[in-house]
Amino acid sequence: MGRFKKEIITQQGIDKREVGYYSTPDFIAKYITKELLALNPNGVKVLDPATGKEELLKHFYNNGKEIDSFDIVNYGEKKYSSFIHADFLEYYQEKKRSLFFSEQIDLEYDYIIANPPYNCHEVDYIRKNKERLNLLFKEVGTYNMYSMFLSAIVDSAKEGALIGVIVSDSFLTASMHCNLRKQLLSECAIHQIILCPTDLFANQKADVRTCILILQKGTKFQSDVLIANRPANTENLKDILKNRKLIKTSIDKVSIESDPLHRFVIDVDMSISNLFSLPKIGDIFQCVTGISTGNDKHYLSPIRKEGYDIPFYKNPGKRKFRTQPDAYLINNFMEESTHVKNFIVRNKKMIFEEGITCSSMGLPFSACYLPKNSAFGVNANIFTPKEDIFWMISYLNSSLVTYIVRGVLIRSNMVTSGYISQIPILSFSSHEKEKLQKICTNALNDNVPANDAIAQIDEIVFNNISIESSLANKVTSFAANLTKAV
Ligand SMILES: C[S@@+](CC[C@H](N)C(=O)[O-])C[C@H]1O[C@@H](n2cnc3c(N)ncnc32)[C@H](O)[C@@H]1O
Repeated sequence: MGRFKKEIITQQGIDKREVGYYSTPDFIAKYITKELLALNPNGVKVLDPATGKEELLKHFYNNGKEIDSFDIVNYGEKKYSSFIHADFLEYYQEKKRSLFFSEQIDLEYDYIIANPPYNCHEVDYIRKNKERLNLLFKEVGTYNMYSMFLSAIVDSAKEGALIGVIVSDSFLTASMHCNLRKQLLSECAIHQIILCPTDLFANQKADVRTCILILQKGTKFQSDVLIANRPANTENLKDILKNRKLIKTSIDKVSIESDPLHRFVIDVDMSISNLFSLPKIGDIFQCVTGISTGNDKHYLSPIRKEGYDIPFYKNPGKRKFRTQPDAYLINNFMEESTHVKNFIVRNKKMIFEEGITCSSMGLPFSACYLPKNSAFGVNANIFTPKEDIFWMISYLNSSLVTYIVRGVLIRSNMVTSGYISQIPILSFSSHEKEKLQKICTNALNDNVPANDAIAQIDEIVFNNISIESSLANKVTSFAANLTKAV
């Protein structure tokens, strides 16, 4: 292994979070090991490229496997593996460099198991190693440590090798991870995707949304895909794993061929996936972001005062239908943007137009009326002909759209205009549009509470797509319990 020598050093006092350390609970290690061994009982060699304190290795060791491990930090003596104190991404880079023409790395391991690092130190690590990482991860990008690890693991695995990881699940839907998804789909069989509950790492003060992924190098091994949606808590996940309460589906239902972003959709009924063949918001209306001042404290005032007269909307959060300006913008903002570098005004033509302003940060997705003569921030704002504004606000606040945004398009991260542009628009009749418009006007005028308005909207929407009541219940309950469901 050249300069990647095996060594054992004891090192104390490491800030685990600096290296993206979260210990995997033992029941997860046990589950992944059991599943990998069930897929191939006869393998011999195991690799854990980010081993920490060998949390993932006990069960392989107990099954008599030969294990190698890597970590950039040495957390002390290893019981189960032959340890290499090194940066796995550097090791991967050296392996890549030594290849001739179309050779593959083909590491000797039958099983690769990992909980790759994420959060905290990644920004620093990626910044410091930007140049070499950009070259190494030309296709998939250098957005996160975990995504680079996953790409490197898949690339270096030999044909037939089994890969079991627990990783952040942002790669399932985020646009920036489209090429990583393409790599997984073109190089691997996807055996299992299990969404983990948000409390899984909570006792380690980590608010991370994760999933268990079981892959096999080589698409020829693809058969059914076993999936599980996010359970409410860790106890539920234990039950799902112990009793293998997984849903059997097929790869074409997990990754819809017609989706140019190759998103992975977990437990989304076909009657909802099929809606993506309808025209999208971005195909029909303008869906844009507006102003980033670069210095909100200076350019925005919480109250209207001299020189700050322009109502400014940047995130309605969970407010639906009607919202208040989040602040007041300086009057001479256009002029300011011409000489202040960080003061950016996008889509100038839409500023001051009447439209719809959507929430950006946080879990709830909502849409509110954007009055004429106001300005807007970097959240998504939609501009339609006048006659379409109010029925669209109703539609956007429906449980179906919340489900589409948070359950299909983007499970984590911030909701940008790029994602909102992809929301399919149902083909409503003029009668339905009239009813939706009326509900919106009633909610705007406080004649009906927002929740009642949404129940009325849901009825129209569900009727329009004729979905079964059990699916309608699933969608409304997802929208009503976002913190647990997303
Ligand atoms: C999320 S922890 C997982 C620890 C343990 N395997 C587990 O599952 O509980 C990620 C580990 O990756 C290590 N790590 C961070 N960057 C690394 C790199 N470039 N190469 C190898 N290991 C790295 C960290 O030191 C940490 O031990």
